[in-house]
Amino acid sequence: MLTEEWIPAGTLEQLRTDGAKVIKGGIAVFAHEDGAAAVDNRCPHLGFPLHLGSLCNGILTCHWHHARFDICSGGTLDPWADDALAHDVKIENGELWVNASPRRTMNIEKLKQRLQEGLEQNIGIVIAKAVVGLIEAGVSEDEIVRVGILYGTSQGSGWGSGLTILAAMRNVLPKLDKTGRILALYHGLVHVARAGAGRAPRWLLGPLPSADTSPERLADWYRSCVEVRDSQGAEKV
Ligand code: FES
Repeated sequence: MLTEEWIPAGTLEQLRTDGAKVIKGGIAVFAHEDGAAAVDNRCPHLGFPLHLGSLCNGILTCHWHHARFDICSGGTLDPWADDALAHDVKIENGELWVNASPRRTMNIEKLKQRLQEGLEQNIGIVIAKAVVGLIEAGVSEDEIVRVGILYGTSQGSGWGSGLTILAAMRNVLPKLDKTGRILALYHGLVHVARAGAGRAPRWLLGPLPSADTSPERLADWYRSCVEVRDSQGAEKV
C-alpha cells in the first residue's frame, strides 16, 4: 500500500549519467526512458543487489541467475523468481522522489497463490519460500497441507505417491520442531508437485448432497469403497 512518505533520489539528470543508484530503504532507482523506475534492491530470487544488474529495453536482468523483470511493474519473466517489489516514482522540477512503500506487499493470500503456482509449475524453490512465508505469517500447517491436497487430488490419477508422502509428513508434524515442520511440509508438497507434473487436470466428482451423515459413518463408507477399489465411490464419500 502506498504511503505519503516520499524519499528523495537526487536529480533525473544525475541518474541518467549514473544509470542506477540505491537510496534509503534499500530501493534501487534506474533511469528508464524519459523518467525513472524503482524496485526493491534485493532480487526476489535469492537477494542479489539488483542495481548491479543490466537494464535493457525495459527488462532488468539480475546478474546472479539471470532472472528478468519488467522494470516498471517488477513482474518477472521467470517463474522460479518472484516478482520484484516496484515503487512509484515522481519527478518534480527535475528532482526524483520514490514512494517509501512498494505498490504491493506479500500477504497470506498471495503466499497461498505462490504455493499453488509452485505446485502447478513444479518449482521447489517457490514451494519452499511459500511454505516459510505462510508459517512465518502464522498460517496453520493443516491449511498449508490442504492447498497441497486440493492440488494433488485434482491432477492426473488423483491419489498417488505424492499425496501419500504429504499425508505421512502431516502425521509426523506434531513430533517436529519448527524447522523440521517446514522441511516436512516442503518434502510432502514437492512430491505432490512432482507427481502432478506434466499431467492434465482432472475434474473431481461432487460430494454427497447431505451434510447430516456422521463422520464415523462416512469413514466406514470410505473404507468400504477403498477395500473394493471403488475410487469414484470413495471420492463421492
Ligand atoms: S539472485 Fe537474482 S536471479 Fe538469483
